[in-house]
Amino acid sequence: MAVRFLALGLLIFVTVCSGRRVCDSQQSCDAEQCDKNLDIAIVGAGPSGAYSAYKMRYSGKDVGVFEYSDRVGGRLYTYQLPNTPDVNLEIGGMRYITGAHNILQALTKELGLESVPFTEGFGRPGRTRFFLRGQSLTYDEVKFGDVPYNLTTVEKRNQGRIYEYYLKELTGFDIGNGSISREQLLKLRVSDGRPLYQLTFDEALDLVASSEGKEFARDVHVFTSEVTSDANALSVFDDHLGEDGVGDNILTVKNGMQKVPKELIKKFRKTSTLNQVQLNMGLQALRSKSDNSFVLYFRPTETIEGKTTVLEYRELERVCARQVILALPVYALRRLDWPPLLEDRAETAYAAVRNMAASKVFMTFDQAWWLDSDFTNSSAYVTKGDTPFSQMYDWKKSNVSGDFILIASYADGNNTLYQRVLRDHGQPINGSEPGSHIVSEPLKEYILHHLSEAYGVDRSAIPEPKTAVSQFWTDYPFGSGWITWRAGYHFDDVMNTMRRPSLKDEVYVVGADYAWGLMSSWIEGSLETTDAVLKEYFKAECRDFPNNNHLGSHMA
Ligand SMILES: Cc1cc2nc3c(=O)[nH]c(=O)nc-3n(C[C@H](O)[C@H](O)[C@H](O)COP(=O)(O)OP(=O)(O)OC[C@H]3O[C@@H](n4cnc5c(N)ncnc54)[C@H](O)[C@@H]3O)c2cc1C
Ligand SMILES: *[C@@H]1O[C@H](CO)[C@@H](O)[C@H](O)[C@H]1NC(C)=O
Ligand SMILES: *[C@@H]1O[C@H](CO)[C@@H](O)[C@H](O)[C@H]1NC(C)=O
Ligand SMILES: *[C@@H]1O[C@H](CO)[C@@H](O)[C@H](O)[C@H]1NC(C)=O
Ligand SMILES: *[C@@H]1O[C@H](CO)[C@@H](O)[C@H](O)[C@H]1NC(C)=O
Ligand SMILES: *[C@@H]1O[C@H](CO)[C@@H](O)[C@H](O)[C@H]1NC(C)=O
Ligand SMILES: *[C@@H]1O[C@H](CO)[C@@H](O)[C@H](O)[C@H]1NC(C)=O
Repeated sequence: MAVRFLALGLLIFVTVCSGRRVCDSQQSCDAEQCDKNLDIAIVGAGPSGAYSAYKMRYSGKDVGVFEYSDRVGGRLYTYQLPNTPDVNLEIGGMRYITGAHNILQALTKELGLESVPFTEGFGRPGRTRFFLRGQSLTYDEVKFGDVPYNLTTVEKRNQGRIYEYYLKELTGFDIGNGSISREQLLKLRVSDGRPLYQLTFDEALDLVASSEGKEFARDVHVFTSEVTSDANALSVFDDHLGEDGVGDNILTVKNGMQKVPKELIKKFRKTSTLNQVQLNMGLQALRSKSDNSFVLYFRPTETIEGKTTVLEYRELERVCARQVILALPVYALRRLDWPPLLEDRAETAYAAVRNMAASKVFMTFDQAWWLDSDFTNSSAYVTKGDTPFSQMYDWKKSNVSGDFILIASYADGNNTLYQRVLRDHGQPINGSEPGSHIVSEPLKEYILHHLSEAYGVDRSAIPEPKTAVSQFWTDYPFGSGWITWRAGYHFDDVMNTMRRPSLKDEVYVVGADYAWGLMSSWIEGSLETTDAVLKEYFKAECRDFPNNNHLGSHMA
């Protein structure tokens, strides 16, 4: 009690007496003395911030990268468990698509990173199952067989391509075997003349689907994010056109996805002593000076067991910069104290997207019980419908311990929020990682109970996990795994405002959360927005060769 009282007293003393605060008038902002002066400040070291820095590595300017946590990578997070140290667990992004994710593919090559097939794809052909309305069905049965949904005759005939069928009914557009451009997608109109992007998922499906057909379409769509009632209808159709999501075209980075931003930052640092990186610095506020430069107010942070908190008792650190790139998730951006974000222009633009929680739970076992059951081919298991469980993936074997690894659950939206409640109740299981990565007894029981049901194996036949780790993408600074667009927004119109929220300030915003339609749930989206902003506003800084006049004396 005494200690707590003392700590509280100290806190009050520091806040009241330390004096340093965010400037509150033009005069005080202009007079602000900075601890550090930069040409360009980049805030956030996820893929978009790291890529921005990398592209500017030869700029010859003072460029600083500031990251909230103790880690470069953001929502790319490659993790190891003690008993399977030779296997990379991806508790964030894990795969990319060749042919569709061209910037990322070229970038991994440029960085010398080896890409290998992501063998589980979006569910491996021949051993992927859906658990729908209590029934375990193969992929082919879902496409062509009896399903526990009372589909109309014509829906039944189009069961294997239900989204393509509904899109044709809605808009007259037949995807056939071709593909469709972004421009064409935005031009699609339903019969009453409204553009498809104006409609929610519910409104669109209600026009063409029977109620059972709609439930079927909703349940076979693996991520809940795009099939919530208010989601933009265009996203879900976009997801079902073109790519089948299986085969050799799905890749991963052999040494882990997080290597991409890590290598970008490493090369940025090595190129010039002018290029700097600071971890554990949380941007709190941003103010402009009358000479069009900026003061950034950072507070040091601390990361313990994966959880980063702002050290409120520490003094604010002031960084002055002429230009600013905010490479932040929209959730963190909207919590930044910067007056232009409260103006209608910015508020309206960022309101176009919704945060979607996401989570992964990995478990390791001394036997691959999911490969030993009757469903010999069903290791990549996708399940939806009336349970808050989503997907599971086989994750290979460790040669060090011989143990087997499973993504026991990969969920999004409300499914994640439900699982988080379970995580926060009860004790951590034996072998659980600590802190923000805890797997609790109730969460483990829930997941294993579900898997036992879906696989038709006795719960008692499933051994206890040896180790486990979870990651819930729900809290600050991410607030979500990815965003989805709300109905009613023309992506291109909004994106320009998102990337430059205040026309009189040289403050730019990059990241996946500001990318076109469904690209916003991919790394590629974060690279696309970065390229667009750099091309328009930082051409001179992005030369791709060293300029000796500028750099010679500063080379590290
Ligand atoms: C579970 C999951 C699975 C995914 N799967 C895939 C996949 O398979 N393939 C794929 O391509 N994509 C996938 N993604 C999406 C991909 O991870 C993101 O698109 C990508 O990481 C976005 O990059 P970004 O730079 O825009 O943002 P982030 O990666 O979120 O990086 C933002 C950075 O900003 C920092 N930051 C935030 N606030 C502050 C502040 N105030 N001050 C300083 N720093 C701050 C954060 O700490 C973070 O490091 C997945 C995402 C999740 C969550
Ligand atoms: C299935 O739907 C049709 C109408 O589409 C209806 O006539 C029939 O009764 C339904 N069957 C069941 C089992 O619900
Ligand atoms: C798509 O391709 C298949 C096989 O090549 C062909 O049979 C079918 O007619 C094509 N469909 C359309 C709409 O072009
Ligand atoms: C597993 O795959 C093999 C070979 O593809 C196939 O013959 C067998 O029927 C499959 N078993 C199940 C249960 O799906
Ligand atoms: C384990 O060894 C096998 C056989 O050499 C190899 O194919 C596999 O990639 C190794 N697994 C890991 C995780 O290194
Ligand atoms: C979560 O559930 C609530 C209540 O049922 C619903 O209103 C909301 O749309 C759901 N959100 C998501 C993202 O599924
Ligand atoms: C956890 O491990 C301890 C020590 O090995 C053991 O006594 C205990 O029974 C285990 N708990 C569970 C729930 O398995």
